[in-house]
Amino acid sequence: MKQTAKKFTQAYGPSGNEEQIRNIIAKEIKPYVDRVYTDNLGSLIAHKKGAGKKLLFAAHMDEIGVIVNHIDDKGFLRFSPVGGVYPIISLGQRVQFKDGLVGVVGVEFKDVPRGQVPPLSKMFIDIGAKGKKQAEKMISIGDMACFTHEFIELSPDRWVSKAMDDRISCVTLTEAAKKLKKSPNDVYFVFTVQEEVGLRGSKTSTYSVNPDLGIAVDVTGTGDTPKGYTMAVELGKGPALKMMDHSIVVTEGVKNFMKKAADKAKISVQPEILQFGGTDAGAMQVTRGGIPAGCISIPTRYIHSPGEMIDRNDLEKAVQWVVSIAQMDIGKHGFGNN
Ligand code: CO
Ligand code: ZN
Repeated sequence: MKQTAKKFTQAYGPSGNEEQIRNIIAKEIKPYVDRVYTDNLGSLIAHKKGAGKKLLFAAHMDEIGVIVNHIDDKGFLRFSPVGGVYPIISLGQRVQFKDGLVGVVGVEFKDVPRGQVPPLSKMFIDIGAKGKKQAEKMISIGDMACFTHEFIELSPDRWVSKAMDDRISCVTLTEAAKKLKKSPNDVYFVFTVQEEVGLRGSKTSTYSVNPDLGIAVDVTGTGDTPKGYTMAVELGKGPALKMMDHSIVVTEGVKNFMKKAADKAKISVQPEILQFGGTDAGAMQVTRGGIPAGCISIPTRYIHSPGEMIDRNDLEKAVQWVVSIAQMDIGKHGFGNN
């Protein structure tokens, strides 16, 4: 599982540029499902055929990044954020383009008072070009880059990498597909595109699959770091059951069902209320006439930084939880309307 996590997190794939990571996931999951295909927007859909109701799991493949919007006379690149990019975390980082080209993020020192965090508009990317002409041979306006950082294991249980959000959930679904031998449901594992810019791949793939229940898997913040977020989630205490974030209020029927599946697999889950951000579950829930939707959250520290940290025990439990949900006949459960 560690090798898969390394492979998935290290791949390039900012929103709208998911083909490299998509190919990697497709190759990994293909032997364990009946059919793998890509929809019009680019989401990867792995279908494990079954006679029962349609159950959809989704994890997003895309990661945050930057897009080049200007090249100046000296060959420095200006950029816009793709998704939630924090200025405080961007400075001094390395970014990598699709073809492997690397740049570093610099700042207009003159205009930034010492100790202050400059906005992204005061930053630029230096790709080592010695002038505009050379830069234009290396890069084009519109090219996207992701932040890079290697995958490391800090202790046997704590893994750190860029793009744990949300490749660690792509690992979760891939591992669950490997473990799921039989299901009373018709199961879809969907790897969505463009989540970081507005839950877009989830919207279209949920519409086309039209499931009876949709479960997103995504990372969530933790409240266990010095003066961190006010939330009850801790790293290593198990995956979390989402109750609410800015995109969704999970209905009682769905939460009860998910809790039941967790109990059945003897997994203790943490209650999660995220005070910022959203997930693919939010888009699922408001697709068509409303689709019952919930979310399994993987506790993660330093989200949207190149040092995103997870605990492998949470990951393993999340895999078991997905399998347990898939093994429950969703046709026998009502999710109610609230
Ligand atoms: Co994110
Ligand atoms: Zn995410």
